[in-house]
Amino acid sequence: MRAADISDQLTSVLVTEEQIHDKLAELAARVDSDYEGKELILIGVLKGAVMVMADFARQLQRDITMDWMAVSSYGAGTKSSGVVQIRKDLDTDLHGKHVLIVEDIIDSGLTLSWLLENFASRGAESIEVLALLRKPEAAKVEIDCRYVGFDIPNDFVVGYGLDYAERYRNLRDVAVLAPHVYS
Ligand code: XMP
Ligand code: MG
Repeated sequence: MRAADISDQLTSVLVTEEQIHDKLAELAARVDSDYEGKELILIGVLKGAVMVMADFARQLQRDITMDWMAVSSYGAGTKSSGVVQIRKDLDTDLHGKHVLIVEDIIDSGLTLSWLLENFASRGAESIEVLALLRKPEAAKVEIDCRYVGFDIPNDFVVGYGLDYAERYRNLRDVAVLAPHVYS
């Protein structure tokens, strides 16, 4: 789905499909070099990170393994509750593994800070974060994120995996959702 088709529901396009593609290629080259000679597992956070994972993982020139975790902290609203629930746990034992968490967006940072603690307690050898988007103005906790795609303003965004009430995930770009849609 393209932004033009639902332009009445969007305020503006923030990041285009092409910009995302170029940025993920750049991040993949860095990850290839940073993890040379190491076994790497990518852990995607469902459901928002599905598109990032699919495109990022295929830009890598190396072998990886992949697992998924589903957590929920938002419900149907647009603000993080800070209360994180595991909806689907990993299938993989993280002991001794080099873990790269793949996320769509760091907003308040509450979800990731919870995930980082949770993964550390499972004995991972190293844990880093890749996030396509980050909202610096929304941070409630600082997240040490090694691979960031784009810093964006503090607006609610949709597309490229990001949803509002499960809609807009298949929008190719990342766009600001028009306030009249959720208020
Ligand atoms: P936090 O606030 O814990 O964010 O860093 C956790 C998760 O909430 C989702 N999220 C968003 N989803 N537009 C969305 O469609 C947004 O602007 C937005 N901000 C946060 C996202 O899944 C993130 O992983
Ligand atoms: Mg999400």
